[in-house]
Amino acid sequence: MARRKLVYEGKAKILYEGPEPGTLVQYFKDDATAFNAEKKDVIDGKGALNNILSEFFMKGLNTLGVPTHFIKRLNMREQLIREVEIVPLEVIVRNYAAGTLAKRLGLEEGTALPRPIVEFCLKDDALGDPLVAEEHILAFNWASQQDLDDMFVLAHRVNDFLSGVMYGVGIRVADFKIEIGRVYDGDFSHLVIADEISPDSCRLWDLKTGEKLDKDVFRRNLGSLTDAYAEVARRLGVLPKIAVPISKPTLIN
Ligand code: TYD
Repeated sequence: MARRKLVYEGKAKILYEGPEPGTLVQYFKDDATAFNAEKKDVIDGKGALNNILSEFFMKGLNTLGVPTHFIKRLNMREQLIREVEIVPLEVIVRNYAAGTLAKRLGLEEGTALPRPIVEFCLKDDALGDPLVAEEHILAFNWASQQDLDDMFVLAHRVNDFLSGVMYGVGIRVADFKIEIGRVYDGDFSHLVIADEISPDSCRLWDLKTGEKLDKDVFRRNLGSLTDAYAEVARRLGVLPKIAVPISKPTLIN
C-alpha cells in the first residue's frame, strides 16, 4: 500500500496528502527541466537545496507578514504546506533585463530596468506559458481586479525582501517567478505566496563577478548546478550539514 496519497506530480515537485485536512506535503525532486521540459536531467542534491532555500525565503516572508503557504520543513526533501487553489498565472518580477524580456524588447542582458516590472504568464505548458496582459486576465476571468491588485502588492513585497536579503550576501536578483494560491476562510478568501522560491525560479547574479547562481547554469551548461545552489545556501547560512553532493569527489592518497 502507498505510504500516502499522491495529489499531484509536477516537473520538480510532488504533492502528497498532508496529515491534517487543508494541508499537503510538498516533496522536492532532483529533476531539472528547462525550455518547457525539452531539456531534462536528474541532479543529485538539487531537491534538498531547493527545499532548504525555499524554507528560508518563505519563513522570512511569513515573519514579515507576507502570507505564504509554508508551514514547516519536515525533512531534507519535504515541507508541510497549506493546501491552496493555485491561480493559473505565473507572476514574474524583473529588475534587470534577461531571458524572454531581453529577447522580446531587444535589450542587452543585465540592463537595469527603470523600475521593477511585473508580468503575468498563463500557466499552460502546452502553450509554453504565454505572456498575458491584464485585459486577458480579466476578460477570461483567470483572476479578478482585486486579485490583480493584491498580486502586484505581493509581487513587490517579495521583490523588496528577496532583493534586500540577497544584496546582503552579494547577490543581485535579476528576476524571479512566483505562484499565488487562494486560501478560503469561510466566505472570504485571500491570496498567499505558494509553490517555491528557489534558484530554480530566479535569476541570481553575483554582484561583483556577474557569475550565475541559478537555473541558467543548467539551461546554458555553465557548470555544476548544485555547486551554484550550494553557494547561495552557504552565503545565506543554510547549507545543510549532511551530504548534498557538491562537485565530484577528489581522490586523496
Ligand atoms: P523568462 O525570462 O520569462 O523566461 P526564461 O527563463 O525561459 O528565459 O523568466 C523570467 C524569470 O521567471 C526567470 O527567473 C525564470 C522564471 N520562470 C520560471 O521559473 N518558470 C516559468 O515558467 C517562467 C515563465 C519563468
